[in-house]
Amino acid sequence: MKKKKILVVFGTRPEAIKLAPLILLIKRQKNVSLKVCITAQHREMLDQVLKFFSIKPDYDLNIMSKNQSINSVVSRISNKLDNILTKFKPDLVLVHGDTTTTFAASFSSFNLGIDIGHIEAGLRTGNILSPWPEEANRILTTVISKFHFAPTLKAKNNLLSEGVKKKNIIVTGNTVIDALFLAMDILKRNNKLLLNIQKKLHFIKKNRRIILITGHRRENLGSGFKSICKAIKQLANKNEDVDFVYPVHLNPGVRKYVFPILGNKKNIKLINPLDYPSFIYLMNKSFIILTDSGGIQEEAPSLGKPVLVMRNVTERPEAVIAGTVKLVGINEEKIIKEVQILLKDKMVYRKMSKAHNPYGNGNASRKILSFINKKYEQ
Ligand code: UD1
Ligand code: UDP
Repeated sequence: MKKKKILVVFGTRPEAIKLAPLILLIKRQKNVSLKVCITAQHREMLDQVLKFFSIKPDYDLNIMSKNQSINSVVSRISNKLDNILTKFKPDLVLVHGDTTTTFAASFSSFNLGIDIGHIEAGLRTGNILSPWPEEANRILTTVISKFHFAPTLKAKNNLLSEGVKKKNIIVTGNTVIDALFLAMDILKRNNKLLLNIQKKLHFIKKNRRIILITGHRRENLGSGFKSICKAIKQLANKNEDVDFVYPVHLNPGVRKYVFPILGNKKNIKLINPLDYPSFIYLMNKSFIILTDSGGIQEEAPSLGKPVLVMRNVTERPEAVIAGTVKLVGINEEKIIKEVQILLKDKMVYRKMSKAHNPYGNGNASRKILSFINKKYEQ
């Protein structure tokens, strides 16, 4: 029997983390010829993930430039990917999530009549401008995809309500949980890695609580980031006994606010983005997580860490409903108020820190692969 040809295309840190377990799984399949194409929409932050999971791409479009515009990312990906798609002629292109890479890779594949499988399909806020441009990217990708891997029932229902055929949707859980379990397992078995991480994060003190911060949403660049940083600064002033650890995203549009406002304060540690296992280790040591990230909203509840989300809407309502994630927006006073409550009120903290796992049990990649196998047997 002829081997199925699958091309996986991704470009940013979260896509790499969430696709790594699936790539490693498909690589072991004898009936599939798998090729991995990275756009490198992110460079350093993507390479960190590839190195940890020992994934060597077959194609590297290497498109990242400093302060890149969304349109430049789309055009460079389309130009370079066209050649690869035409030569490799995959039966199926797998994309993930809602980045510009996701959209550009899907659209390029669609224009060549190639089937698309969309992983983490069906997330919606209902507001086309938030997150921006991700809500548009995922809707556009849905419209041109053939197979839809929905992480939750809610995501499946979103797809059904948009007219996607039931037979082409499967609820899989989120592959981020597969990645989390895989990374924790590697960490447990690799003492050298653990010691290196502990060395890197030497500033973690046993007797001090940590608030872990991340942020990068494009719609928050500008006044949103100013407000977020001012809130963190005030919180650090009010709580000298707490350490605020912030691995700062490499986007210059983020760094230009974070360093001037938050630099030079003893209990605020501004560090570079961490490799995935170090970040998981730090999440585990944290008391509260303050973030606008999508992936962290999915990982932290399964580690039993309360998450305050600095956004007004989320496409991940499952953990909010369960009470382990709370939307606090980007208003300075509101962020301060919500963090103070969690720092001071043990009852509220205990309620939010219950381990909860609405995004799956680590089997998502296996479900995706067996669905693909079945579809191509038919
Ligand atoms: C992108 C995605 C967003 C995703 C996020 C994950 C788009 C439009 N945005 O946002 O959906 O949630 O990644 O982090 O697809 N940079 C580096 N090195 C890196 C990565 C980024 O220097 O390894 C800098 C570059 O100057 C680059 C800038 O960050 O131009 C912005 O990167 P980009 O991928 O365009 O946007 P993100 O805000 O990272
Ligand atoms: N992450 C990481 N190092 C960091 C910060 C985050 O490895 O310094 C991981 C985190 O565990 C999660 C993913 O990156 O799996 C989230 O990526 P990001 O917030 O950039 O993107 P989003 O999920 O918002 O699209």
